[in-house]
Amino acid sequence: MERDDGMDERFTRRGFIVAGGALAAGSAFAEGEGAASTNAPVPTPKPMLPDDPILGTGDVPLMVGAPCLQAPGETTMGVSWAVSGLSKGVVEYADNPDFRDAKTAKGGGYGLVPIDVSALQVRLTGLKPATKYWYRTVTTPFTDYKNIYEAKLGEPIVSPVHSFTTLGVGAAARFCMINDTHAQWEPFQMIVRKLKELMPSAVVWNGDATNTTQKKSTAVGIFLDPPVEDGDWAADIPVFFESGNHDFRGSWISKKEEVILPRDPSERRGDQWDLKWNFAVRLGEMALVGLDTGEDKPDAHPKWFGLANFEAYRRAQAKWLEEQFARPEIASAKFKVVFCHIPLFAEEGSAAYPHDGVKIDPDDYAHWSRECGELWGPIITRSGVQLVVCGHQHRFRFDEPTAERPWAQVVGGGPELGVADGNPDESKFPTVVEGKVEEGRLRLVVHDVFNGRIVLDRIINA
Ligand SMILES: [Fe+2]
Ligand SMILES: [Fe+2]
Repeated sequence: MERDDGMDERFTRRGFIVAGGALAAGSAFAEGEGAASTNAPVPTPKPMLPDDPILGTGDVPLMVGAPCLQAPGETTMGVSWAVSGLSKGVVEYADNPDFRDAKTAKGGGYGLVPIDVSALQVRLTGLKPATKYWYRTVTTPFTDYKNIYEAKLGEPIVSPVHSFTTLGVGAAARFCMINDTHAQWEPFQMIVRKLKELMPSAVVWNGDATNTTQKKSTAVGIFLDPPVEDGDWAADIPVFFESGNHDFRGSWISKKEEVILPRDPSERRGDQWDLKWNFAVRLGEMALVGLDTGEDKPDAHPKWFGLANFEAYRRAQAKWLEEQFARPEIASAKFKVVFCHIPLFAEEGSAAYPHDGVKIDPDDYAHWSRECGELWGPIITRSGVQLVVCGHQHRFRFDEPTAERPWAQVVGGGPELGVADGNPDESKFPTVVEGKVEEGRLRLVVHDVFNGRIVLDRIINA
């Protein structure tokens, strides 16, 4: 479902931080001045906005969204946030709540710092592993940017202080996984409320966050400014992102890194540069590894208009995966957990089995990915992975390990609230999948956030 809300409506619902633009006397109130000279009633002044948002915010107050923590690492942390007009932004941060010896980080890399009309992104680097930091964003509108010589800034807007803890061996081994939220706001609110209650070290947003994305504003609404009560959920919980098949659909979506920061460049080798969101990190005794299963149909499918190149992408990730498990810090983790959107197998003989994503499917829907299973499954098995965490099927599922497949697979539910195709269906509920190390054991808990119950609580064998 395409969401096409106006920015003002979204920002108003979230109760964003607002600051007035610099009033340009003689322009903003031109209508009123003319009226006053004839003693007619003075009309309410209307905010003035330049014709093109990239020319500045004019007299329209800038609205600034809550920050979202993205692409967390041991020594890096991404921060993205929504803005309603042309602005610049920095992040101030410190390892203490008083901001003693605070540092200020700008966006971009070397050279020019990017500015934007809808989303700002800053990456903090050089952080200490497994360390708590406090931070706030400082956003300043360009009220006028007709050219660099005459550009004018408005008043800076400082966000409330938030905090996060970097990843690493010393961090608390506790993750949550959410999936298939599909911009359905009622289940999304249930999910993010549960996340705020559980406060994991990090969340993996495991695909199908979107539907079909034709505009950047749609992605900003989904990832940075969701219209729900707990829309600031990612201000204090870092979020990994892995795409689902829907996150490759729409005329804008190939630019999603403008809203969702990819992994830090230092993690990515040149020949693996396009593996933008793949991650392999330590979180206490766990290693978390994220893979991208891509679209759910073969590259040659006529629906893709020749735009799909996922088969080579999956092979490149197989090579990357092998290398990640060879890294000493990943290899030495007691627990290894892999995340990907589409499940890696279905039981032979099950209803899902024929829908494997490698042929033109009469149902037009893959239930699992034979290609990813065949490419990655043997590496996952050899590397001692205990758990694979997926989505895509919109129905909670748990597969016990077997002798041939020594890892368990858990699949989270979708956004449907007890209905399927208009009929009651108790098996349809959104979930938060929680994994944590307790007393040296990996415990998996699946929360059904619609019915308020736990549908799975078990120890995954080490
Ligand atoms: Fe989905
Ligand atoms: Fe999916």
